Amino acid sequence: MAVERGGNTVMVVDGSGRGAVLADHYAKSPHVDRVLVVPGNDLMEHVNTHGKEVKTYPGLTTKSRKEIVDIVREEGVDLVDVAEDGAVEVGITDGVLEDGRAKVMGPTSEAGQMEYKKSFGREKGRKWGLPQPDEFYIFDDEDDAVKFLNSQPEEKSWFVKADGGALGKGALPGQNRGIAIERVREMKDFGEAGKRFLIESWITGDDGEPGEEFSEFAVFDGKMYKIVGSAQDHKLVSTFDMGNQTGGMGCVSPPLMMDAELAQSNDREIWQPVQHGFAKDGIEYKGMLYLGGMAVRERGRRRGKIVEWNARWGAPEAEVVVPRLQIDLFEMGMAVADGDISRLNIATDDVVRVIVIGASRGYPDNYDDVKNKEIHGLDEVAEMGGGVRLYPYGVAVDEETGKHYAKGGRLFGIVGEGKDVIEARARAYEAMSLVSIEGNNLHFRTDIGWRDVQRLRESA
Ligand code: GLY
Repeated sequence: MAVERGGNTVMVVDGSGRGAVLADHYAKSPHVDRVLVVPGNDLMEHVNTHGKEVKTYPGLTTKSRKEIVDIVREEGVDLVDVAEDGAVEVGITDGVLEDGRAKVMGPTSEAGQMEYKKSFGREKGRKWGLPQPDEFYIFDDEDDAVKFLNSQPEEKSWFVKADGGALGKGALPGQNRGIAIERVREMKDFGEAGKRFLIESWITGDDGEPGEEFSEFAVFDGKMYKIVGSAQDHKLVSTFDMGNQTGGMGCVSPPLMMDAELAQSNDREIWQPVQHGFAKDGIEYKGMLYLGGMAVRERGRRRGKIVEWNARWGAPEAEVVVPRLQIDLFEMGMAVADGDISRLNIATDDVVRVIVIGASRGYPDNYDDVKNKEIHGLDEVAEMGGGVRLYPYGVAVDEETGKHYAKGGRLFGIVGEGKDVIEARARAYEAMSLVSIEGNNLHFRTDIGWRDVQRLRESA
């Protein structure tokens, strides 16, 4: 592939640590001179820039379609990486392609329905014969859903899921009929996203056990795909896997659970049929596709089943998977945009990475009073080196004083590297110990990676 060295401008559409790690690795590319991040957040302009210009747009959102297309034109952007679900849904890819000046890494709004319409993903799953919940039902009416649940056994467990995007909070467990009915009534709290909703049976193996969750990523170019990595996320807010669902409080890559048996069954039973399904149904998917999966045991072997699809990298998974890739991110993005990843060699390093998310105390429910509180210690973390990296999610910077302030729920992620999960998480937590938020307002989980630590200890 002929890609000119230097002189290129990349735009990343995202405001989280995922945008931060993508900006880091685009800036690292010798092909790239400038990285624009929409909206990004202040601290991205100061960390992991590799001496390049990194510019953010705090006045915009990932859904500012017209403004984004205008910037692409005015700034002469060469490649746009559409990295966030809202951006996919509003058609940032479509807008930039219609404008015709820049190339795009990321699916069109139509292809992105795999994520932002859960019913679409599930119906395709049924049509393409993918492993997913044995039963799922789609409802547009609360009374119909309650009537359906009342016809089902009282002790049966369900998941009730908003059809549209709900920031990772739209999937609610209903451990029995009564709770499931309450969950149905909660769907209206999600507004437009919950007008249509799904009722799904729980994913289990043939032993009745629910299994363990994983995230796996594949890049598609419209004709073929390549697996790029996997991670294990911790979605509940508190240590000991307790509390509410979040966008993710930390993860490990590569996770020990992703052994050859699981990777091969995912490839054979999920990724290959998805690619065939895309081709058969005329879906030209170009970009990252993220499988949120559950590994269960069936007929004496482990296999993955689909919990959900996401039409982009995960956050914080991206922060531990992207750095593993021994590939120039700009070359990968251009190859996807040009519809030919056949010659990309997606090699990975053999380092284990753990990310721990630092959040405002009270996240994900009530953390307004942490806004604008000062965060201490981030400069020390950014300068630590030795396998520690800082990826901001919501950190405001006072440009005069250089001080850092909380601006959001998830504030930053710290990645630690090591030869194994024990070393990697020790580095991440060593760095986290340097950080505090005015008034004792920093929250983080203290057990990220616990499953792999246990597996490693057991195998020693
Ligand atoms: N970490 C989960 C997500 O990005 O949706």
